[in-house]
Amino acid sequence: MEINIYFVFIVLFMLADFSIASDKHQKPFPVIIDVDGGCDDFLAILYALKSKELDVRGITYNASAQNIVDIVDDNYPGKNLPVILGADYNLYETDKTPDTPGCTYQKAFPEGAHGKRDQDLLFGLNRQLRLSKRIWYDAIKGFNITKDLAYLIDSTIEETGKKPTIIMISPATNIATFLRAFPTYTAKIDKVFWMGGALNVPGNVPNDTRAEYNVYLDCVAAQELLASNLDITLVPLDFIAQNPLSPAFFDKLSKLKSFYGMFTYNLLSIIRATWPGGDSAFFTIYYLWDSRTIAVVKNVGVAKIVSNRTLAVTCNGDPNYDGQFVKSNILTNSNFKVAIDAIVSTPIENSPYFQDFLNTIDYD
Ligand SMILES: *[C@@H]1O[C@H](CO)[C@@H](O)[C@H](O)[C@H]1NC(C)=O
Ligand SMILES: *[C@@H]1O[C@H](CO)[C@@H](O)[C@H](O)[C@H]1NC(C)=O
Ligand SMILES: *[C@@H]1O[C@H](CO)[C@@H](O)[C@H](O)[C@H]1NC(C)=O
Ligand SMILES: *[C@@H]1O[C@H](CO)[C@@H](O)[C@H](O)[C@H]1NC(C)=O
Repeated sequence: MEINIYFVFIVLFMLADFSIASDKHQKPFPVIIDVDGGCDDFLAILYALKSKELDVRGITYNASAQNIVDIVDDNYPGKNLPVILGADYNLYETDKTPDTPGCTYQKAFPEGAHGKRDQDLLFGLNRQLRLSKRIWYDAIKGFNITKDLAYLIDSTIEETGKKPTIIMISPATNIATFLRAFPTYTAKIDKVFWMGGALNVPGNVPNDTRAEYNVYLDCVAAQELLASNLDITLVPLDFIAQNPLSPAFFDKLSKLKSFYGMFTYNLLSIIRATWPGGDSAFFTIYYLWDSRTIAVVKNVGVAKIVSNRTLAVTCNGDPNYDGQFVKSNILTNSNFKVAIDAIVSTPIENSPYFQDFLNTIDYD
């Protein structure tokens, strides 16, 4: 669960039309990725940067800035991609006490090993990255999550002729904050993909059995997302758990020869080796949540996405109950869809998602 410290949210805009993602002849489509800075986010950014189907236009985040700048500049050299610092509070508490932005819900994160420092330093491996000349405070200088994101969306449309998809592998705070300032910008966003929620499986928040961290950490922001007129595809734990990691996946990973292939193997091996409870716990708890979400944006390994607008998010100030998706009689305003079935092969490491992940990150 420690991983969740960094609840990774990336919003990618998915498709009203899956053919866009699957048609290899199409030019890459523009995406903006909203992350919260864990190792899982880091690997998802890498996977997205290396995916030919995606044109990453910028990243909004709130931690581990230098690591992000390093892989962005190494993979998109000379582009100076915007890396924009976002919120470090949630809207639920901040609306009530604007002078002291709150983050009580973050206390649900366990401290200690696998905590913030491990995530920020990539378990000590960050120094092995090819370091950028750009340093993080340059990358974020003068940041303003609302203004800068609006500019990023406008310049993306101007330069590519396409509306960006937003991939959230994070709580919804940044996007909700942005939409409060620029409500009409929903028309300039093609799709949103959101890693979040546990619909018909247990969640991952200790005292709130049906909640998942990205929704739990800011239930007000989640509600505002559902109330917007965005086209949203949720990638919940239900879906992600269908593609668990396995020792055989690690074997395949260990054979990669590229710089980032080896880096990814080393990073995940440390996380696995230091996991409390060993392999049996690791393989039942640790998923590449955020990379899995990138694959959904690419329409890789997806068997079924259904429309489900009969959903609401609980948010009454009860930390043991907030942040759950529940059935509602009132339809969401957003065009809300849920990825429910993944393509699973036998053996599991041959599933399309794993194949694509390995091939893509290994591409030098
Ligand atoms: C990122 O957000 C978390 C939780 O909201 C907060 O504890 C942390 O200080 C933030 N980090 C930065 C660099 O703003
Ligand atoms: C979870 O519940 C236990 C027992 O009621 C309590 O001691 C603990 O503080 C709670 N943790 C959080 C994060 O609310
Ligand atoms: C960020 O930009 C928005 C929109 O222009 C503005 O309302 C807000 O005051 C700015 N925030 C900061 C901290 O400058
Ligand atoms: C929509 O989500 C609710 C709550 O998880 C669930 O009960 C219902 O079966 C879902 N509907 C569809 C069509 O998947």
